[in-house]
Amino acid sequence: MEISLAGKTAMVTGAGGGLGRAITLSLAACGASVWACDIDGKTAAATAQTAGTRCHSQALDVTDRAAVLAAVAEIGTVDILVNNAGGGLGYTHRPIESVSPQEWAAVFDVNSTGALHCTQAVTPGMKAAGGGRIVNISSDAGIRTARNRLVAYGAAKAAVISLTRHLAEELGPWGITVNSVAPGFINVSARTQRQWLAYGEEGQKALLESIHLRRLGSADDVARAVLFFASDLAGWVTGQVLSVNGGRS
Ligand SMILES: NC(=O)c1ccc[n+]([C@@H]2O[C@H](COP(=O)([O-])OP(=O)(O)OC[C@H]3O[C@@H](n4cnc5c(N)ncnc54)[C@H](O)[C@@H]3O)[C@@H](O)[C@H]2O)c1
Repeated sequence: MEISLAGKTAMVTGAGGGLGRAITLSLAACGASVWACDIDGKTAAATAQTAGTRCHSQALDVTDRAAVLAAVAEIGTVDILVNNAGGGLGYTHRPIESVSPQEWAAVFDVNSTGALHCTQAVTPGMKAAGGGRIVNISSDAGIRTARNRLVAYGAAKAAVISLTRHLAEELGPWGITVNSVAPGFINVSARTQRQWLAYGEEGQKALLESIHLRRLGSADDVARAVLFFASDLAGWVTGQVLSVNGGRS
């Protein structure tokens, strides 16, 4: 069975980054018109250019509610929203006493509140259209603990999972599904490469041995899971969190 998203408009946040780019390319390959959005307009444009003529880009900071509402007003009805923008913003683990309110707020803003803003912006159109798909990128860190022990990040991703479940219940009567993909560690960027190298040989071996399939995943592994939730194949699936992590106990 082929997945066809022809005629659908998708919006992907954080589309200039490693996973966002793969997600945008796979949605576009299935026929969707994709708006690649990122706080970094240049990387968003590069993704859109690679994804093809049906794709557009938009410089968009998901933490700026007014900007998100304005962007969606320009896009029109969004059939598929992928809330992918996020990350640890370069913060590293420190004892809990020294985690600043600014760090906590910034990490929550991009990972959780940004997803809320985008959802609030697209739901009127989805309700009027009689359906829609929302896919939130959470993380293993929100289910277990963050490998880099960044507590604000793990807590913000746990909030994304809770947001997913609550929105699935609230928006189900309008035919809108809300699901989450929770990736394990995926080495897709200069940042993740630094993280991988920082583990050292022993740490890398231990990480691989903690994965049932004994290999790291790819951005495409994550994109395929997003595609499933975005497609008709998942028409009666909502409120679910799919771990894409190669298996972990
Ligand atoms: N790579 C992994 O190992 C991994 C694992 C689990 C979850 N995730 C999650 O997947 C998502 C994508 O991660 P990635 O590895 O591709 O990271 P990345 O850093 O390569 O991409 C993140 C993108 O988000 C953009 N961004 C940051 N702040 C933004 C904002 N305020 N508004 C809009 N865009 C913003 C960045 O410019 C960047 O292009 C993130 O939510 C991340 O937490 C990643």
